[in-house]
Amino acid sequence: MKSMDRRRFITAATATAAASTLELENLAKAAQPEQGGTVVFLATWSFGRPAVDHAAQVFHSGGSLLDAVEKGINVPENDPKVESVGYGGLPNAEGEVELDAAIMDGTRHRVGAALNLHRIKNPISVARLVIEKTTHSTLAGEGAYRFAREMGFTPMNLLTAESRAKWLKWKNDPHHKTFWIDQQHHDTIGLVAADSNGHVVSGCSTSGLEWKLPGRVADSGLVGSGVYADDNAGAASATGNGDIMQNYCTSFYIVMLMSMGRSPQAACEECLQHMVRTDASTKTRAEAAVIAINPQGEIGAASMNSSFTLDYAVWRNGASSMHRAKVVYP
Ligand code: GLY
Repeated sequence: MKSMDRRRFITAATATAAASTLELENLAKAAQPEQGGTVVFLATWSFGRPAVDHAAQVFHSGGSLLDAVEKGINVPENDPKVESVGYGGLPNAEGEVELDAAIMDGTRHRVGAALNLHRIKNPISVARLVIEKTTHSTLAGEGAYRFAREMGFTPMNLLTAESRAKWLKWKNDPHHKTFWIDQQHHDTIGLVAADSNGHVVSGCSTSGLEWKLPGRVADSGLVGSGVYADDNAGAASATGNGDIMQNYCTSFYIVMLMSMGRSPQAACEECLQHMVRTDASTKTRAEAAVIAINPQGEIGAASMNSSFTLDYAVWRNGASSMHRAKVVYP
């Protein structure tokens, strides 16, 4: 509850002549935000659950909402078993892991992004430092790597034995699909959050489509596509085939719909419907899913079709839980 609301609440309670002092004390206590303030975290996929759990822990230990989203996303980035994010992410066609990430602070209306980053396992933290340490918004490739090194990040081989074996299997298959003609599938960590002050943040991190052409950057690290956040309206993120989704600036589109009064759920569904209105083939061919939160902590999640169902994690009121997003075109 915001402080002004709390004051009004307490004033009204005081005016209730019949209420005892003890009752008033209890009412005032109930009106206080929980320690660290009420907060809601929402993240894509099952690996989003440890991410939202850790984000909540960071927030309740005194971290900012931005800290919480960044550190939450570090969890799948650090997990070698998550094949679409950070360390252990599947590599490009030449066997190199290339990472993209962005984080946007809805209060300062400020984004930081690190694109096409090599040998650094936490692109979301590099993106955060682009906000905090530079006047730029996006760093890419070799420049992003050199910035990360200057910020103290240690380079490492991001391929695990498992991801290397999968790449070799693809590479040695004479009939393997490539992005000159075909598409593969993908998932990504998107994490959005709102606190009791109506502050919102959006973060997104990915290793991108496996076996992608070197240098390919898709939606996750792009402001307006993988992330968008504005305290006046809410925050959104996206997961799926970023080569398709970045054509629609999905996160910006959703936040704009929320600014016009749509609920997060209605905004998510309308965004996917807009894609289909624009290009009917996306209804069946687009692996696309989106999540959103408004400054009041209401959430939304939707996926395009039943061949790409999104499970998402929510942390609120002291616990996390998993849910299935609404399929707009079952
Ligand atoms: N959405 C992640 C990607 O396509 O790279």
